[in-house]
Amino acid sequence: HSVRIVGAPTDYGANRRGVNMGPAAIRYADLAATLADLGLDVTDSGDRSVPRAWTDDPARADAKYLGAVETVCTRLADAVSESLTAGQTPLVLGGDHSVATGSVVGTARDADVGVLWFDAHGDLNTPATTPSGNVHGMALAAALGLGEFESTWADAGIEPENVALVGVRDLDSGEREAIRDHGVTTYSMHDIDRRGVTSVVDEAIETVGGADGVHVSFDLDWLDPSEAPGVGTPVRGGATYREAHAALERVADAATVRSLDLVEVNPILDERNRTAEMAVGLAASALGKRIL
Ligand code: ARG
Ligand code: MN
Ligand code: MN
Ligand code: MN
Repeated sequence: HSVRIVGAPTDYGANRRGVNMGPAAIRYADLAATLADLGLDVTDSGDRSVPRAWTDDPARADAKYLGAVETVCTRLADAVSESLTAGQTPLVLGGDHSVATGSVVGTARDADVGVLWFDAHGDLNTPATTPSGNVHGMALAAALGLGEFESTWADAGIEPENVALVGVRDLDSGEREAIRDHGVTTYSMHDIDRRGVTSVVDEAIETVGGADGVHVSFDLDWLDPSEAPGVGTPVRGGATYREAHAALERVADAATVRSLDLVEVNPILDERNRTAEMAVGLAASALGKRIL
């Protein structure tokens, strides 16, 4: 089994600078060697180039640096789809979560794919509903071609019934409406508290389908900030270390992981790179690490 690391060092979708250093932080935390130890054949294709957009042009308060984000996502979509064609599982390192639009578009190209979105947030805003103007809060809406994204990413090939949000705990009102209107399967932390993470994840896998496998988009802010402090938009009440590993072990066992994002690691906000180290351990679980 082969994995191709694809860096996407951008912070244009976030309101906190520094998340563009996520790929470097995750590499420093020994990503390649950790995966090689599992017996995986690991290639690092380096970072996608990211435009130097010193000014936001045209400036839009409701979608900051949207042009730069779309450029990165277009490049990333091609890199993800090339990696799949070469028989290598793409492992995308963000960058803020806006890059996931590119991952999803690339992985769903000519394929039937389900999407599991592990996140404190829904990332289902559009420029019409966003409270912040930050495009990382719109990444899933963009991949689904909602609102004005219909003209950019409409043929991404992912439908709302192929998507499950897992473990959300901070939704904006426009996102609640999008979930209702489009029927996006959503499990909150409340469901995880009541039913346990493995049962929720099993059901999510069942729901999203994906004859060609699932895309796992993993925002490190899904974890509780006490365990993963190096993120730009922390929310209390997140998954524990054990829950996160249990979730991704279920994904490795019960689904075929077609592609994986590790996003929102911000080393400037972190403590001695522990959030990047967390990301590496979780990637190992998602890609099949077993105790025995
Ligand atoms: N919902 C908020 C917003 O739209 C926060 C989004 C945070 N997203 C993320 N990928 N960390 O601004
Ligand atoms: Mn997110
Ligand atoms: Mn988030
Ligand atoms: Mn498709």
